[in-house]
Amino acid sequence: MALTALDRGGPAPLAGQFYMLMTPAGWGGGADGRPYLPRALSFARAVQSDDGVALDFLFEDVGPGTERLTAVGVGDELLIAGPFGNGFALEADRWPVLIAGGIGLAPIVAFDDELRDLDGVRATTFVGMRSSAHASAAGLYDLKHSLATEDGSAGHQGYVTELVATQLEAQPDSTVYACGPPAMLEAIRVLCEEHGVPSQLAMESGMACGFGACYGCVVPTKDGYIRLCVDGPVIEGAQLDTAILSGMAH
Ligand SMILES: Cc1cc2nc3c(=O)[nH]c(=O)nc-3n(C[C@H](O)[C@H](O)[C@H](O)COP(=O)(O)OP(=O)(O)OC[C@H]3O[C@@H](n4cnc5c(N)ncnc54)[C@H](O)[C@@H]3O)c2cc1C
Ligand code: FES
Repeated sequence: MALTALDRGGPAPLAGQFYMLMTPAGWGGGADGRPYLPRALSFARAVQSDDGVALDFLFEDVGPGTERLTAVGVGDELLIAGPFGNGFALEADRWPVLIAGGIGLAPIVAFDDELRDLDGVRATTFVGMRSSAHASAAGLYDLKHSLATEDGSAGHQGYVTELVATQLEAQPDSTVYACGPPAMLEAIRVLCEEHGVPSQLAMESGMACGFGACYGCVVPTKDGYIRLCVDGPVIEGAQLDTAILSGMAH
């Protein structure tokens, strides 16, 4: 599902940052009980105009919050807070390798946009999806990429990490920027460690406030616990013992 929302106040976000979204009606309990809290979504594209920043979100209908967001129509009001968290930070003099898995596509599209605006910076992008139907989301954004699908219905049959391994062997002066399901991020973290390649991983954890107040989003790192909403959601792979954290991601 793709949703475009106008943030009249701005500011323009950095790729990897996220927003907390909810609808003015049908939220906060009511007939069906949930959801009470806004839901975190990364933006995929931000377009600045005199009216504000038009933000694209990509999401899966996995529960009551995303189900209500799916029902939002043209011209409906949305309550949006953000942008929150950090973003991907381009490492100078290293080749950017962007990797998206599933709905983790959103911040990778945003980072690809950000790099395209920089003179002389090119990147190699990989997308891993379950099937060609899921991969069609990348087509919405004209994202130049190599594709892997688990069922082999498009691109390389298998996991995207198989393509990434070949890339890192050929180009060890890479830095990896990735977003996707925890198992994919963990495979990438290990792969990067084996190849001595730095990685920045956009992660998820359950978020109630999004701005550092509730401590609901804490995750363990080698340096102790951090609040993912303010110290992330982008974390260096080297900071983690594992990218599979209890209670994270669907
Ligand atoms: C920084 C950030 C960025 C995100 N960006 C996107 C995005 O671009 N697109 C997108 O589709 N989703 C994104 N998510 C995930 C999204 O916020 C959650 O899936 C959200 O919980 C969905 O709300 P819901 O009410 O529809 O489903 P819920 O009822 O909250 O969850 C449905 C199911 O998924 C599990 N689950 C989902 N997300 C989480 C989680 N974060 N932690 C623990 N369990 C979880 C639940 O256990 C439950 O089984 C992001 C999350 C974070 C933290
Ligand atoms: S979501 Fe509340 S502190 Fe991070």
